[in-house]
Amino acid sequence: MQADIDRVVIDRGQIARRVEAMARELAADLEHDLRATGHAPDESGQIVLVPILTGSLVFVADLIRHLPMKLSLELVAVSSYPGQATQSKGAKMRGELPQNLRGKHVVVIDDILDSGRTLALVKHLVQEQAPATIRTCVLLDKPARREAPLRADYVGFEIEDLFVVGYGLDFDGFYRNLPDIVALRSEVSGAGDANPATAGTADRC
Ligand code: IMP
Ligand code: MG
Repeated sequence: MQADIDRVVIDRGQIARRVEAMARELAADLEHDLRATGHAPDESGQIVLVPILTGSLVFVADLIRHLPMKLSLELVAVSSYPGQATQSKGAKMRGELPQNLRGKHVVVIDDILDSGRTLALVKHLVQEQAPATIRTCVLLDKPARREAPLRADYVGFEIEDLFVVGYGLDFDGFYRNLPDIVALRSEVSGAGDANPATAGTADRC
């Protein structure tokens, strides 16, 4: 696995510091919202995090351990199909979104905001349930490739148009367990293809 790495893009120390800072900001905003809707800061059942599987797994595991309030998790899975590989561009829910988000303070979390289709889909479906507030939070943002007009409320790092793996992000299902965010050697990732950033599996999550 190590031999496939070209270079470290964001190392584990940088990630840890940024995730803690993001959590502090998110916690302060959520506490403010709770008070604004007449709830005690530590009231049960008001805050629901919606992590998008599988890429956000490692990020969410670290983020929630810096959030000091009562919260619950509702995991969702979305498949995204890069147009090049399947012709059919877009994002599709795998399974159902939980139907208990009305009046809640919801935070949708993903590993990376790329075309924006995944986050736009989940945000839309959450919005339909009339939550009290909805926020979006991503570790990485790749604005160069945006197709859906969307900005995340909390962004860990903005990166250039580059395919990265590690800290939950995968290529063909592998490399999620790398502690740093890295770029793979071009012979491994297929960079140099017509569109390197969409290289990899047809079904990404
Ligand atoms: P979207 O294009 O914004 O809908 O992002 C779809 C999904 O593609 C993300 O949730 C990631 O799982 C995956 N993805 C996008 N860019 C990368 C990358 O550079 N490395 C690994 N996965 C990625
Ligand atoms: Mg994903």
